[in-house]
Amino acid sequence: MSETLPKTYYITTPIYYVNGLPHVGSALTTIVCDVLARYHRLKGEQTFLLTGTDENATKVTQAAEKAGVPPMEFVDGLAGAFKECWGALHIANNDFVRTTEPRHTLAVQEFFSRLREKGYVYADTYEGWYSVSDETFFRDTEVKDGIAIESGKPVVRVKEENYFFKLSAFTEPLLAYIEANPNWLLPEFRKNEVVAFLKEGLRDMCITRANKGWGIPVPGDESKVIYVWFDAVINYLAVTGWPHNPEWESLWPADVHLVGKEIFVRFHATLWPAMLMALDLPLPKQVYAHGWWTVGGQKGGKSGASLPHPTRLAQFLSERSGAEPELAVDALRYLLCREMNFGPDTEFTVENCLRRFNNDLANDLGNLLNRTINMMNKYYDGVVPEVETPDTEIVALAESVCADYERSLSVFRFNDVLEATWRLVGRMNKYIDEKAPWGLAKAANNGDTESAKALAQTLTACLEVTRIVALLTSPFMPTASAAIYQQLGITEPLETVTWSDTTWGGLKAGTKVTAPKPLFPRIQELTVADTILYELGSANPPKTEETPKPVSETPPATPETEVKTDNFISIDDFLKVELKVGEILAAEPVPNTTKLLRLTVQSGEDETRTILSGIAEYYTPDELVGRQIVLIANLQPRKMRGIESQGMLLAADVDGKAVLLTPDSLVPVGSKVR
Ligand code: MSP
Repeated sequence: MSETLPKTYYITTPIYYVNGLPHVGSALTTIVCDVLARYHRLKGEQTFLLTGTDENATKVTQAAEKAGVPPMEFVDGLAGAFKECWGALHIANNDFVRTTEPRHTLAVQEFFSRLREKGYVYADTYEGWYSVSDETFFRDTEVKDGIAIESGKPVVRVKEENYFFKLSAFTEPLLAYIEANPNWLLPEFRKNEVVAFLKEGLRDMCITRANKGWGIPVPGDESKVIYVWFDAVINYLAVTGWPHNPEWESLWPADVHLVGKEIFVRFHATLWPAMLMALDLPLPKQVYAHGWWTVGGQKGGKSGASLPHPTRLAQFLSERSGAEPELAVDALRYLLCREMNFGPDTEFTVENCLRRFNNDLANDLGNLLNRTINMMNKYYDGVVPEVETPDTEIVALAESVCADYERSLSVFRFNDVLEATWRLVGRMNKYIDEKAPWGLAKAANNGDTESAKALAQTLTACLEVTRIVALLTSPFMPTASAAIYQQLGITEPLETVTWSDTTWGGLKAGTKVTAPKPLFPRIQELTVADTILYELGSANPPKTEETPKPVSETPPATPETEVKTDNFISIDDFLKVELKVGEILAAEPVPNTTKLLRLTVQSGEDETRTILSGIAEYYTPDELVGRQIVLIANLQPRKMRGIESQGMLLAADVDGKAVLLTPDSLVPVGSKVR
């Protein structure tokens, strides 16, 4: 490294696929990276936060096709939506990389060429399984009934002339590296998953696909594009200016790649480090994976159960509580970091957020701030008094909280960081009750000098703790912390504050506090209707009172039934039935019945479902696999023979025999039927 360029603390988020809008999952990772960056800046370190978008994936072009928009226009729009969202969430990133940018393409092609020159890339035929949804190749043993076992996503068989990366050469070096660097992969239990994966032995990886007009072309072979994962991970290095800008070493290696667990084992903890090892480049210093937000136990997100859009959720918090919009954004940042269990997965609900908003922000933090400022105004006309000795119990507690904060942050347990901070907040609210400053003020007024001293000591302790808490929460809630500083009468801008200001005694006697103003007003209504959840970004329309009966559950019209006008349904009623084209990926008999088949049906780009269908007497499983059908997608799931059926196929009833309805020609899976 050049001596004139000190190493910058470099943090990365995953780069997000632009096949859908941001949600509270992508927001969580981005926010915790921002918190980390702000903490390192507080510590006085030169810090660089990178985020961006992953735009060369097949699923991105599929999404563009579905939207009927040219791919470049489509990705421009969504990259803009991510940038805008991160800006609105107070993310202070230093750069935003898009994998369609020339600086990225250049680095990827250079990386590829260097690997080829070193003999780590060779040409061969690839035949096997590929999941577009995961953008991942799978082995035969990793696939069952047309589904990747790990992700539950459909796979297709591909056979192509391609280039391969000699990943198999890195099993032992990676195991050795993990052994020698125990804190490289975190948390520990996920590191163990990586070790188990490596012990199965890495296989060479197919790293190109046929060029269909989207993606980064292989240097010297325009018929191929580089596999999107191989391209995507290089973004972290491309942004440093590698290979041509000599300053790249002031950023690289990244200090931490922070990602979700699904892209940890295969990509960030094996493929990427192996690629770097192959070129003798330094490895990222740490790689950390957090778990998922789940909804009803399922992964939430673009391809799973719905998760709210972050800025819409912040706006909702503002409307429900009356908090200023910018403070509501900070509240959301706090809530996401505090609610997520940085270990196993965490169930996400808007109602949990509202409850925690009230408990932690409106009550705990709000009470401490309001009571402190009110009492200061009442007993001291707002002017901070002199104290001879601070309360040693509280000073010691503040010190130990700061130490716990740093310890938890060093292992990326952001919930514990906040929990530690709130120990201080909680103690202070109790402390006020125990010390009863109102009693001390009365006695002091009656000439009791000891009470006067105790009052000054108590209130300055409250002020100091509030100041320290504002500093500790500033990486999470920068706007709220600045507002607390302002109420405390601190005139120096928050940006100039450093970690050393956590030392006791920062608020000087003579400082004048301002008028109290609640930052996070209490939310009165804690329940959230389905219609509101839907508006917040839920992909699922709310359940209405009168769920329409699926066509085949409606009693058949008998010849005697007159066609009466009151039997008509409105177009709105009809539109409540969600009909889609699906493709049968697998079919098998259900034990102990002659009528039912268990079907695995792909019903959207990233969506598969199990449907039990009473067609076993009319179709054999072999006749069904690969067939496109029409299904009712929003039918209430129903359990039969212990299996949940998630929808129903449409079939004509011909003399009591079922004849499946099929589109006239092959259509994209998931197409709407109207
Ligand atoms: N493009 C790849 C990453 C390439 S990095 C070189 C990708 N993109 S993604 O859009 O699918 O984003 C995945 C990331 O979003 C996860 O790793 C995680 O950080 C975040 N999350 C997406 N869904 C999430 C939850 N349900 N819960 C928590 N985080 C989630 O994979």
